[in-house]
Amino acid sequence: MNRKVTVVGGAGNVGATVARAVAQKELADVVVVDIADTKAAGVALDIYQSCAIEGSAARVLGVGATDEGFAHTANSDVVVITSGMPRKPGMSRDDLLNVNYQIMQSVTAQVVKHSPNTIIVPVANPLDAMSQAVFRLSGFPRERVLGMAGVLDSARMRTFIAMELNVSVSDVTAFVLGGHGDTMVPLPRLSTVAGIPLTELVKMGKLSQARLDEICTRTANGGAEITKLVGTSAWYAPGASAGDMVEAILKDQKRIMPCSVFLQGEYGIHDLFVGVPVKVGARGVEEIVEVPLTEDEKAALHKSAGAVRERVDVIKV
Ligand code: LAC
Repeated sequence: MNRKVTVVGGAGNVGATVARAVAQKELADVVVVDIADTKAAGVALDIYQSCAIEGSAARVLGVGATDEGFAHTANSDVVVITSGMPRKPGMSRDDLLNVNYQIMQSVTAQVVKHSPNTIIVPVANPLDAMSQAVFRLSGFPRERVLGMAGVLDSARMRTFIAMELNVSVSDVTAFVLGGHGDTMVPLPRLSTVAGIPLTELVKMGKLSQARLDEICTRTANGGAEITKLVGTSAWYAPGASAGDMVEAILKDQKRIMPCSVFLQGEYGIHDLFVGVPVKVGARGVEEIVEVPLTEDEKAALHKSAGAVRERVDVIKV
């Protein structure tokens, strides 16, 4: 194929799910890079073999995260970074930040060296701080670094609304702003079922305010809920979300998606990665969509941005 997508950390659950989505949809050839080099080779081969069944001509290669391995990623159209350590017992949030920042340093250097014109989709946690780290380390314009969080968070909210109202999730839209964490800001006023805002559905008696509040809280804790059930972080929905962003970029779809991007005054936030709606196309972030917010919504967004700022300050990026 004439397009190439690299997934760094691609032998992990989230990375492999992204790689598979890209290959299955025949969006591009895929390079799976991982420090676990034999696992990368095996995961890539397995995905490649699935293409024979699914009718995709995508080629999938797995390599180690060495100079030689990264050479195979040369001139990637999109690079998804899913590398990173999960928090281990006894580790503070700041310890995790520092460890993952170090990983971003080596990964970003390799990505930029081999694909200086690529678009990077960071998926590593803590998402907004790691996206900011990748942005600073890459020296790329802000258009070419967009973090995956809002697509996942809004998919979770859409699912909960569909479950609650027993309607098709296809007819549900959800609007989530802010950092990827428990301070994220689900906005019922701008979330709809077939165009009807959730706030109207409450007035119509179709949805109780209490249930709506529960859905918002459950959305904000969506990652933790899965982790508790499965024993490790989610991967199907995070992988599908990053795959959707890759598709929007490669097909120049001009989709409006919530992504973590570097704000420079938009929403009154300066020099910080925070989730907001953006137009995603071949150039990456093609427009930051500024939606007028109520005072309460603004306050919640700024609180969430404050939580991101605290993390960014720890690693000084
Ligand atoms: C989640 C993790 C992957 O929200 O951030 O599931």
